[in-house]
Amino acid sequence: MMLREADFGRRDARGGRRLEAGSGLVGELPLSLYIHFPWCVRKCPYCDFNSHAARGELDEDAYVDALIRDLDYELAFSPPASRLPPPDIRLPPLASIFCGGGTPSLFSGRAIGRLLEAAAARLDFAADIEITLEANPGTADAGNFREYRAAGVNRLSIGVQSLDAAQLQRLGRIHGPEEAVAAYDSARRAGFDNINLDLMFALPQQTPAQAEADLLEAVRLGPEHLSYYQLTLEPNTEFAAHPPALPDDEAAWTMQQSGQALLGQHGYAQYEVSAYARPGRECRHNRNYWEFGDYLGIGAGAHGKRSGGGIVRRARHKHPRTYLQAAGSAAAVQEERRVPDAELPFEFAMNALRLNRGFELARFEQRTGLGAAALEPALRRARAKGLIEEEPGAVRASALGRAHLNALLREFL
Ligand SMILES: C[S@@+](CC[C@H](N)C(=O)[O-])C[C@H]1O[C@@H](n2cnc3c(N)ncnc32)[C@H](O)[C@@H]1O
Ligand code: SF4
Repeated sequence: MMLREADFGRRDARGGRRLEAGSGLVGELPLSLYIHFPWCVRKCPYCDFNSHAARGELDEDAYVDALIRDLDYELAFSPPASRLPPPDIRLPPLASIFCGGGTPSLFSGRAIGRLLEAAAARLDFAADIEITLEANPGTADAGNFREYRAAGVNRLSIGVQSLDAAQLQRLGRIHGPEEAVAAYDSARRAGFDNINLDLMFALPQQTPAQAEADLLEAVRLGPEHLSYYQLTLEPNTEFAAHPPALPDDEAAWTMQQSGQALLGQHGYAQYEVSAYARPGRECRHNRNYWEFGDYLGIGAGAHGKRSGGGIVRRARHKHPRTYLQAAGSAAAVQEERRVPDAELPFEFAMNALRLNRGFELARFEQRTGLGAAALEPALRRARAKGLIEEEPGAVRASALGRAHLNALLREFL
């Protein structure tokens, strides 16, 4: 792995990183930054994200210092497959930053502000950058929200999950519906005009009518964006070990369909499997993943994807203690992998076909560096089964393909 510490912080005359032209994929792809916060008040029984119960005091300054060291390390990194030496890598302005977790809202506005300042000192920000922070009801109050807004966060994602008290209890959440609504109201009062609510359906013992009523409550709050996930039993979770009584597949399908219809009636267009937005309010950060853009990933367990003569994926150590000790050096990287060309059609499809609008073949070529012909065998098979719809130069999943997305993706393996 190539690491040139001397290149830390190199700037051009504008104070941004040096740009250079005509160098393969690097610099031509939109760039995002993901920052992971690995602590929660307590672990929810269904959750397999990299989150750990914060026992005792959380040393937010130590973690922010580690994130800044990690960012410096990442910026000095050139993918091993790259033909480009690190100082000449052209990094486009950041289109988005996503502070995800875990529970980032366990951190103060001051800590988030210091982190965003450090990022701004090292990277150009697009003029219309989207900066999202995940906030859990019951962990942040009006004061926190005002501080996040002042620090530059301009989008909040609130983990509501359900507005039904009994469901929240079954899900092991630390909050009731009142705290969720209070968090939403505080965020509005703090000046947030771009809010996502995370909601789940197919909850323990839930009926389709209950799911619809729950969703309607969330819609009535009027967020700009709703993520509507089917609760899944993930390996190595408490729910996997002691499964609650979940609705059967047919009931879950009914909930998904009626949820989609209800959201449509209220002005939320589905643009991805689980994502619904008011016009112009799609999540830019997630869209960049699905469109196979590049992203830097810092923080415990964070994943990143960078292009340049090949596509390299890297993941940081998941455990906060290991990460804190190693951040800023190669030792913080647990896994690094150049994606073989043969796997790129599947990797690309796995992301791009989640989007209702699908993708243009030209985008496939730009994002993978492969010719569109590499997709043709898979497209031929999917076409024959009615799993895709095509327009000249563009492909998307058909209604059948969306209902059987895994079957569609298998055609790209
Ligand atoms: C990374 S989590 C963090 C959000 C935040 N910590 C919270 O819980 O409020 C993002 C979202 O993933 C969803 N999620 C987590 N585990 C899930 C599961 N097993 N099945 C479906 N959705 C899940 C939840 O809606 C959650 O809000
Ligand atoms: S609060 Fe969110 S990230 Fe933390 S354990 Fe619960 S669902 Fe997972």
